[in-house]
Amino acid sequence: MADAAGLLGWLEASSLSAAMRGSLWMYPIVEIVHITGFAILVGSVAMFDLRVLGFARALPVQALGRHLLPWALAALALIVPAGLMMFSAHPHDFASNKVFQLKLALIGAAGVNAALFHAGPWRDAGAWNEGVQAPPLARAQALLSLAIWLAVISCGRLLAYT
Ligand code: HEM
Repeated sequence: MADAAGLLGWLEASSLSAAMRGSLWMYPIVEIVHITGFAILVGSVAMFDLRVLGFARALPVQALGRHLLPWALAALALIVPAGLMMFSAHPHDFASNKVFQLKLALIGAAGVNAALFHAGPWRDAGAWNEGVQAPPLARAQALLSLAIWLAVISCGRLLAYT
């Protein structure tokens, strides 16, 4: 606990934190990078999930996954550094904010759901690649994924009001 408090204090005293607070343009530019990143991530994930749910069944789901999932992962290279930079501006406020804590927990839950999908239904995706309904577990996980990411976006937006 003391270590976490020390880390937050160190971050708040850093020149990055001062620049994020003091510069007129830096925070909004970093926020635009964050938004660009999660638009790519959540957009890719949502298009994939909708295909698993049964939309555009003529599109081979394995090819769609090969196209979209690398983009979703690459988007993290924009989202995470930009998120950490904004966090550095007011580390104590964000760290103690329940909405921020919920947002991080939901991102973790989305990651676990995606990992279980890959280790589970995705391994047999050849059997439901094209023109066939995905198995119930795959569809349930796709629906859960959409719900979690919608909740992450909601928490992110609510940070400005909490
Ligand atoms: C991975 C998926 C993520 C999504 C979908 C997401 C979503 C959002 C959204 C919708 C906003 C509000 C943008 C706006 O109102 O203009 C936001 C802001 C923010 N996010 Fe994220 N975020 C993600 C990851 C992260 C991570 C990993 C961190 C930090 C470790 C983070 C930290 C922040 C901070 C500090 C803000 C600024 C809040 C404010 O100034 O009002 N985000 N995010």
